[in-house]
Amino acid sequence: MRTELLTTISFLFIFFSTINPIPHLPWLYLSLAIAAIAIPPLAKRHARRPNAGGGGGDGEMMNEMVKEGYELVGKFNLGDYYPRHMWGSGLLDFHGVGPRCQRLAARVREHFGRVMEERRKVMMREEGGEVMEKRDDLLSYMLAMPEEERFDDYDVIAMLWEMIFRGTDVVAILLEWAMARMVLHPDIQSKIQQELDTVVGHRPMTDSDIPNLHFLHCVIKETLRVHPPGPLLSWARLAVHDTRVGKYLVPAGTTAMVNMWAISHDETIWGDPWVFRPERFMEEDINVFGSDLRLAPFGSGRRVCPGRMMGLSTAYLWFGRLLQEYKWLPTHPIKLTECLRLSMEMKKPLVCRAVHRNKIG
Ligand code: HEM
Repeated sequence: MRTELLTTISFLFIFFSTINPIPHLPWLYLSLAIAAIAIPPLAKRHARRPNAGGGGGDGEMMNEMVKEGYELVGKFNLGDYYPRHMWGSGLLDFHGVGPRCQRLAARVREHFGRVMEERRKVMMREEGGEVMEKRDDLLSYMLAMPEEERFDDYDVIAMLWEMIFRGTDVVAILLEWAMARMVLHPDIQSKIQQELDTVVGHRPMTDSDIPNLHFLHCVIKETLRVHPPGPLLSWARLAVHDTRVGKYLVPAGTTAMVNMWAISHDETIWGDPWVFRPERFMEEDINVFGSDLRLAPFGSGRRVCPGRMMGLSTAYLWFGRLLQEYKWLPTHPIKLTECLRLSMEMKKPLVCRAVHRNKIG
């Protein structure tokens, strides 16, 4: 997995060296995310860049499917608010959300099914004695499980899709916010680069360096506080019985959401909540995985994000590598205006300039 990630990161660096200033970053992040999520066949397919050679290709198809999924999940559909038995399935679906979901599900099944088939063929050739490239990824593990424990194809496809769909966008958005902050705060950027130079030295940072990069952790945590990518936890959760939250009664049947953005900007909890000051996490280490509700960017409780560890480690690694290799400078004024879709994105995508630091031997 690490090799795949580093290969993809190398691709990113080559790409950066050829295009300066950098265009919109998230497509590149999606490529990296797929590699990190340990589905290399998908990463390779995705790495066939959109519009490369004039064609769309798998990369563009994957982007389109993720985009379509996000649009559909966020689309208002009156039919969702009335029981089906009252209105039938399609009567209140004025925007055709239902049929679009079905079409997307069919495309996802077809695309991921093909990837699985290709992988199975490779495994069969291996069983026949052919020596193939070593693979150490999630898909291989799932397909190689003993028959009685194996997931059926439908479940494997659902898991792969869920990981791509839920796991790529948020990491991309978190990194975009963090990089925007680095361009805006060159002093903080140099402090991380100093830490990287001291702790890692002249070789590329790897995941084993992560525990030793304390200031880098603080910067990512401060980014999660100021710009939580999923600011509204528990989208549309239904209270199944009467519940008390402090002095308030939440009656059974209420749809409730938790506004993490408001909590992480609350001045009764955070000193100078509007100031980007990573050092606050040096003064007090706060667990961001859901046990401390002052900062729970991955949710908390039963429906807490299952990919939180992977998401955070991936963000640490990429962020570290991006800063280790390049100095990030402004080309246009950076606007921090937020845009809440399913995640909280930068309204104006980050465009900046990368200058090689020549630190890696
Ligand atoms: C920085 C990265 C990430 C952030 C900030 C994030 C944030 C969140 C949040 C806020 C939720 C909702 C929790 C709630 O409603 O209480 C969630 C759910 C979820 N996340 Fe993440 N996530 C990240 C990375 C990932 C990754 C890498 C994966 C998969 C590999 C993933 C998979 C999921 C899934 C499947 C759910 C739904 C869980 C459920 O409904 O039971 N996430 N995430």
